[in-house]
Amino acid sequence: MNVLSNDLKTLIEEEQKRKIDDRNKDQWQLGYHLMPIMGWLNDPNGLCQFKDEYHVFYQYSPLEVNGGLKYWGHYVSKDFINWERRDIALYPDSKYDCHGVYSGSVMIEDDTMYIYYTGNVKHTGNHDYILTGREQNTIMVESKDGKVFSNKKLLMTNEDYLNNMTKHVRDPKVWKQKNIYYMILGARDKENIGQALIYKSLDKEKWEFERKLCSKKSLGYMWECPDIFNIGNKKVLMISPQGIEKEGYKYNNVYQSGYMFISGINNNELDEFRELDRGFDFYAPQSFEDSKGRRIIIGWMGLPDIPYTNPTINKGWQHCLTLPRELKIINNKIYQFPLDEYKQLRNNKRIFIINEGLNIECNNRVFESVVNFEGKINELAIDLRKDVNITYKNRILSLNLGKSGYGRLNRSVKLRELKSIRIFSDNSSLEIFVNDGEEVFTTRVYDEKIDKRLVIKKCNARGILELYDLNNINIEIAN
Ligand code: FRU
Repeated sequence: MNVLSNDLKTLIEEEQKRKIDDRNKDQWQLGYHLMPIMGWLNDPNGLCQFKDEYHVFYQYSPLEVNGGLKYWGHYVSKDFINWERRDIALYPDSKYDCHGVYSGSVMIEDDTMYIYYTGNVKHTGNHDYILTGREQNTIMVESKDGKVFSNKKLLMTNEDYLNNMTKHVRDPKVWKQKNIYYMILGARDKENIGQALIYKSLDKEKWEFERKLCSKKSLGYMWECPDIFNIGNKKVLMISPQGIEKEGYKYNNVYQSGYMFISGINNNELDEFRELDRGFDFYAPQSFEDSKGRRIIIGWMGLPDIPYTNPTINKGWQHCLTLPRELKIINNKIYQFPLDEYKQLRNNKRIFIINEGLNIECNNRVFESVVNFEGKINELAIDLRKDVNITYKNRILSLNLGKSGYGRLNRSVKLRELKSIRIFSDNSSLEIFVNDGEEVFTTRVYDEKIDKRLVIKKCNARGILELYDLNNINIEIAN
């Protein structure tokens, strides 16, 4: 068993402080996205608003830039603009999670954070780690202040899940409804069918199986990071399935993230699966509801097992989180809106009229541009950051990357029509919201030199472009 000593914990915290200067000199350090100071980041975890503060935990391997032993990193903010980076919240330091404090969620009740996560354990020996050799334990931790975390309580082990499951059962998301607590877990059964298991509890600690959710047509071999929520009168299941085959422009990434509406009197019929993002780098989103009643998601701007090599590895870090996005249902579909708070980062507003085309220079590569077209547009090409190119033709919108994609080439989606494109550009990322969040393309981009031209070509409709420089978010280190 690999139990981390307190000395090692202190060493990691000190090393992170030392690395801040390196990051500040790094051309790919993100200006307004959350990222690791060093090492590797993956899924957002435990998203919540607790005592007026937003908490963003994340899967974190501070010592291994290519991922490895997972901890929970921790950022906190009251307004999404001013952040505090707190000490690592959870370490893999018990025998139930010694090979990783895996993904999970926070449920808030009585001024207490109840954290539920998966403790990953791998046994040595000749194992496939699917049917044997792995433990995925459901563990609970409490915190009264978001700073001090209680002892870990083991709630369930693989023995407690359904017996036709493989050892892959993880990522608890917990919520309360009419005095009953519910937990949804992602699972892979022995026939390699991805699904979600729902448990219920009266006391937050003893859990009983309630029902499972399966799609009508099998959808991959494993569902990671399941999440269930209502928006308006719709019930939504959000999942990150593994093992879906590519179908034309759909499912082009190694793993997918998307949602299905839930219907039926027993709340167990799943409609069509739809992807949440069309870009190269989006996975494992998690949602929470804030005090304004907004259903907000944050995703991992990255994926596991990718065929690309991100050049930030050479600088000692990898990956970041997406902007937080509010979800709304429009025309029976989920639309995503970057939180309004990010408008506070805007600076130096400029407005341009697009008549057939436009050729302008941004002040920086950290910017937001919003293009609204008047009238029907049939064809369009936008060049930015020198080798990023967005095209629209025959109702297909495509994102094409050159050298700065480091192996990412193109992704497309078919639209009914094109009305607007809103681009959030950061030092090494792009989030492109099409038709006011109807479709989103999220991707990392690693340009060596800053090229500030933004060129609109082949544009047959008139349009208006608003351009803003964006300030960085502030990140302080907690004392
Ligand atoms: C998704 C995931 C989760 C798991 C975590 C481990 O990216 O594989 O299923 O809990 O990452 O870091």
